[in-house]
Amino acid sequence: MAGELIKDRLIHGGDYNPDQWLEYPEILKADIAYMKEAKINCVTLGVFAWAKLEPEEGRYDFEWLSEIMDRLYANGIYTILATPTGAVPHWMSEKYEEVRKMSGSGICRLHGQRHNFCYSSPVMRQKTREMDQALSARFGRHPGLIAWHISNEYGGDNDGIGCHCPYCEASFRKWLRNRYGSLEELNRAWWTTFWSNTYTDWGQIHSPSDNGEHTMHGLKLDWKRFISDQMLDFCKEEIAAVRTGSTAPALCNFMGAFKPLDYFRWAKELDLVSLDNYPFWHFAENESEMAMRASFLHTLTRSLKKQPYLMMESTPSVVNWAPRNSLKRPGMHELSSLQAIAYGSDSVQYFQWRKSRGGAEKYHGAVIDHKNGDNTRVFRDVSRLGARLEQISERVKGTCNRPRAAIVFDWENWWAADDAMAVVQPFDYLGRWMDYYRVFWEKGIDVDIVDMDDSLENYALVIAPVNYMYRGKYAGNVRGYVENGGVYVTTYWSGEVNESDLCFMDHHPLSDVLGIRTEETDVRPEHMDNQISYEGKSYEIKDLCALVHAEGAEVLATYQKDFYAGYPALTVNRYGKGKAYFIASENSVFFLRDFYDRLFQETQIICTFDACLPEGVAVSERKGAAESDSVWFIMNFNADVAEMTVHRAYQNIETEDEINGTVQLLPYQCLILTIPQRERKQK
Ligand code: GLA
Ligand code: ZN
Repeated sequence: MAGELIKDRLIHGGDYNPDQWLEYPEILKADIAYMKEAKINCVTLGVFAWAKLEPEEGRYDFEWLSEIMDRLYANGIYTILATPTGAVPHWMSEKYEEVRKMSGSGICRLHGQRHNFCYSSPVMRQKTREMDQALSARFGRHPGLIAWHISNEYGGDNDGIGCHCPYCEASFRKWLRNRYGSLEELNRAWWTTFWSNTYTDWGQIHSPSDNGEHTMHGLKLDWKRFISDQMLDFCKEEIAAVRTGSTAPALCNFMGAFKPLDYFRWAKELDLVSLDNYPFWHFAENESEMAMRASFLHTLTRSLKKQPYLMMESTPSVVNWAPRNSLKRPGMHELSSLQAIAYGSDSVQYFQWRKSRGGAEKYHGAVIDHKNGDNTRVFRDVSRLGARLEQISERVKGTCNRPRAAIVFDWENWWAADDAMAVVQPFDYLGRWMDYYRVFWEKGIDVDIVDMDDSLENYALVIAPVNYMYRGKYAGNVRGYVENGGVYVTTYWSGEVNESDLCFMDHHPLSDVLGIRTEETDVRPEHMDNQISYEGKSYEIKDLCALVHAEGAEVLATYQKDFYAGYPALTVNRYGKGKAYFIASENSVFFLRDFYDRLFQETQIICTFDACLPEGVAVSERKGAAESDSVWFIMNFNADVAEMTVHRAYQNIETEDEINGTVQLLPYQCLILTIPQRERKQK
């Protein structure tokens, strides 16, 4: 879908705020010339433009936007048009107090910053509907319009607890009635007899607050679900409003692994998803960790819909909000942008086209700076990349990563696991989960990320690390998956609670599939080391050690020390036509590397790029309709030359040179390769 926005071309663009420059016509004129020079083919307009679009209540001024959109289109530049709800204008918060958010202690916030409104307020919803419908009526059929950018980075003030005003509390109660039907059911699900919490009236239910109830697991989990759903509900109203006069696809700019919003649920309501991508390059001497994390965010975003997405924002040079804002070193801009394409993005877009002259982000990187026009290092970097994107578009468009392995990553599990008040605090689900992603990245094997609602059918291997909660039909799906021949791997601190955060009774829900009985979970005391023994080697344990008993499963590794020396640390069980592994101990990456080799052998999953990859060199494959249409991105994240050995001939799609044998990768170089033309013809 992302691929179809502009025919045959990858998108190169970014946030453009001409509304800040309406008094500078010469700047607006120069912008278009520079855009053409940098091979920008699309801009995002109107993010944060509400005060210019509706300077006073009910008086719309769309003329300036219309002129700019026309002019851009006449110059071959398309528009992604934003709805302006990223920030509301002063007149709105002054006139309608209900639009302002309320803190958990009941204090009404003053107007300020952005994301500065309540998602439940009827006035806010009405004003938004009117604005979005008016934009749709005016621009919905503009030939330059290719997509709607709904709001900006939904998420409120990023604290995840949202607004606590009476409208929000009423909506929360309604949401709960929908979920549970009766108070009795809710009391059961939340286990409210604990600490005398039994509710006898819906009105007794309040949002969690530091000033009140903030320990009840059921309440907190449902509040998190509600916040995500309530913002999504607001977003859906915006989508419906822009649909009144337009068929252009709707998207939101997501923030990757942003905890408060369950993006898997959100993605189902959107035509397209996108990522705002801001890794801190050059923070560490070894760039691998950052490169791995960035690739995770790209992979996650692509996995939300299992189709190409857009990298909606990235900085061409520097951000202004990191503790230390280092410039991208020469080469890093091209590499980090092509990294997005490598994992499934059909675009490279920037925040922002031109640096604002004032305001909190005046020193944030941009394609155009305050003084130098096109005569800058950054502009040249961007232009060079623009030319590369144009050149590779034809080969890359229509391809997508199609991994045979998946890792389960689930927002509800994240919320519940981090809140469990057990083992280690703070728990850090994401950090522990990342160990299991890291090895895929290191070995150059693409992986999809699925949540507990996704189908597992298409994968030869599914890994479910720290899968604390089992919700919906998940356990049944896993059982069916293994029965039919799938290889499933799960770990310590899995299958503990149901979707109401109530502990499972009697046995682990997958005890039959795993062939084990689970008992306690230890946290290794910091002053005591411990290891596991696996295939004649010893591996250090990190923190968590599940104590389990093999009941049918084969024991592949055991603990070496402490009162549970000899207990299983890794088991495998044959079930139906498949196998299920249980990793009891929280292990170092050294173990995971060796263990994954076994898994890959068993499932015949290989790095499809036939080469030995040096450290810091990553690879990702976008598959085409035919095998010979595949495109591999070879990314050197080292600041030095890296040497790799390639075991077959590949062709560089940009230079058409063939490579084979020993290949030197320049610092931060990204090679884009395919099967040589001569071989493709034979097929
Ligand atoms: C986010 C926002 C942008 C801008 C950038 C700065 O992604 O969407 O408006 O603030 O951050 O990095
Ligand atoms: Zn509210």
